[in-house]
Amino acid sequence: MSMVSVDVTQNGSVRSIDTLCTAAEIDECLSRLSDRQRPLNLERQRSCDERSLSELSMGLSPHPFFRNADNSFRFMDHPDGVLTPGRRSGFNTPRSPNEFETHPMFAEAWESLRHSLVFFRGQPVGTIAALDSSEENLNYDQVFVRDFVPSALAFLMNGEPEIVKNFILKTLRLQSWEKKIDQFQLGEGVMPASFKVLHDPVRNTETLIADFGESAIGRVAPVDSGFWWIILLRAYTKSTGDSSLAEMPECQKGMRLILSLCLSEGFDTFPTLLCADGCCMIDRRMGVYGYPIEIQALFFMALRCALLLLKQDAEGKEFVERIAKRLHALSYHMRSYFWLDLKQLNDIYRYKTEEYSHTAVNKFNIMPDSLPEWVFDFMPTHGGYFIGNVGPSNMDFRWFCLGNCIAILSSLATPEQSIAIMDLIESRWQELVGEMPLKACYPAIESHEWRIITGCDPKNTSWSYHNGGSWPVLLWLLTAACIKTGRPQSARRAIELAETRLSKDNWPEYYDGKLGRYIGKQARKHQTWSVAGYLVAKMMLEDPSHLGMVALEEDKQMKPILKRSASWTL
Ligand code: GLC
Repeated sequence: MSMVSVDVTQNGSVRSIDTLCTAAEIDECLSRLSDRQRPLNLERQRSCDERSLSELSMGLSPHPFFRNADNSFRFMDHPDGVLTPGRRSGFNTPRSPNEFETHPMFAEAWESLRHSLVFFRGQPVGTIAALDSSEENLNYDQVFVRDFVPSALAFLMNGEPEIVKNFILKTLRLQSWEKKIDQFQLGEGVMPASFKVLHDPVRNTETLIADFGESAIGRVAPVDSGFWWIILLRAYTKSTGDSSLAEMPECQKGMRLILSLCLSEGFDTFPTLLCADGCCMIDRRMGVYGYPIEIQALFFMALRCALLLLKQDAEGKEFVERIAKRLHALSYHMRSYFWLDLKQLNDIYRYKTEEYSHTAVNKFNIMPDSLPEWVFDFMPTHGGYFIGNVGPSNMDFRWFCLGNCIAILSSLATPEQSIAIMDLIESRWQELVGEMPLKACYPAIESHEWRIITGCDPKNTSWSYHNGGSWPVLLWLLTAACIKTGRPQSARRAIELAETRLSKDNWPEYYDGKLGRYIGKQARKHQTWSVAGYLVAKMMLEDPSHLGMVALEEDKQMKPILKRSASWTL
């Protein structure tokens, strides 16, 4: 191991040196550069990305993108560089085919993604959820906000930001609609779950219709949509270096409206966000109400992105201050109470109950008897994760993929926790990845529990759909988390698994079974986010600088509170 640093100039040459790399890493880095001379535009251009919580008091990092000693990518402490998507080489082709990209599935996936484009008055504004004519459409003929995220990332990586911009502006217009369910009016900031373009062949006009939860099964508003919208706005800004979109008064207002909804004061005793079951990717009753990890992690990431994007003008300043306070409290709460590793599990196992006052150790009055049997075997010696939910006398010990990956990407997880999460994924590979990446939630709930928690949902039977099913879309999140923690080999392994079946099976929405061996009972085929998730994973692994679009470095002001197990120490 030697002390070197590699900094790359615009034309791909090496400029300066000052981080820890192994000789092999330096070789790899140099050969990657000379092989393809991929231009990395790391010129310092001060963009809105430069502001972070700690920057308010700390200086800027001089090196926007380099590798840590532990092999993880530290792309930017205060990311001010503009990422460099390749330029379009032609409307129907991915850019610059090279050895990595020549898997036949890659070109097929691009074709399929382009096929899923939805146009409104001549402009592409999103991608349809699924292009499966063999199944009833339901709402799969709509553009879902959450589903569009991997599509948007693929387009950004390919140097095609226009569709992302159109999507951001279109959904912003939808946000300003009056939203009502029966007689009740929803908050102004609510973003739609999905929208659709209606063609009137007689008048030859096109109009948009949107669903804010009033048509959705279960009538739940999508809490995640607003968070994804902010995260995408930051990804767009980061990728293009164009801060003018985020700076538009309409975008600033849209952000403030979303933030007003989730920063408002109420009866809460916790900084986490209270929400109804099914308000995110898992959009049916699955016991993900209260304080589910997916929403908390997205909330945290969206707050951090908003902090980078908000103008410090008269209206923005107040929000910046509220965000800073909330982030501080939220990271403390999550890192302390949602974190589970062997040591913490053992502590809970030995908890005393019925404690009162400030000195209580078991603050939420968790009954050790409520610990499920599976968790004792599931917990590896080295490793840990953010559990599914924490509330009064309630810990949901299930492992949820999206929340844990977003925790890594947003740096809600400390570097030690990020390593522990990856350690757990690697030690429980069979359970979480199996034959097809990746379980949305592990393990499945069964029999009586399934009846009570899902309300006997026939779609969410054990090891199917959200209840222990495997979702290929999650591949992009796993890949990003792997790259951030310096484990590209795990991402490669998962991608190779997906490549054995995804295209042959016509890009299913999800797989069923303990190992994810069966195409999901009611899975749509040609599901766009399965296609886009694969593309993003491939492109990110091939060019890890794309990671900067969806990842944030740790903010030094949010220090870890607890140090619990060996896996926490490097
Ligand atoms: C299903 C999924 C949801 C997704 C939608 C469109 O309802 O549960 O997460 O957004 O399909 O693909």
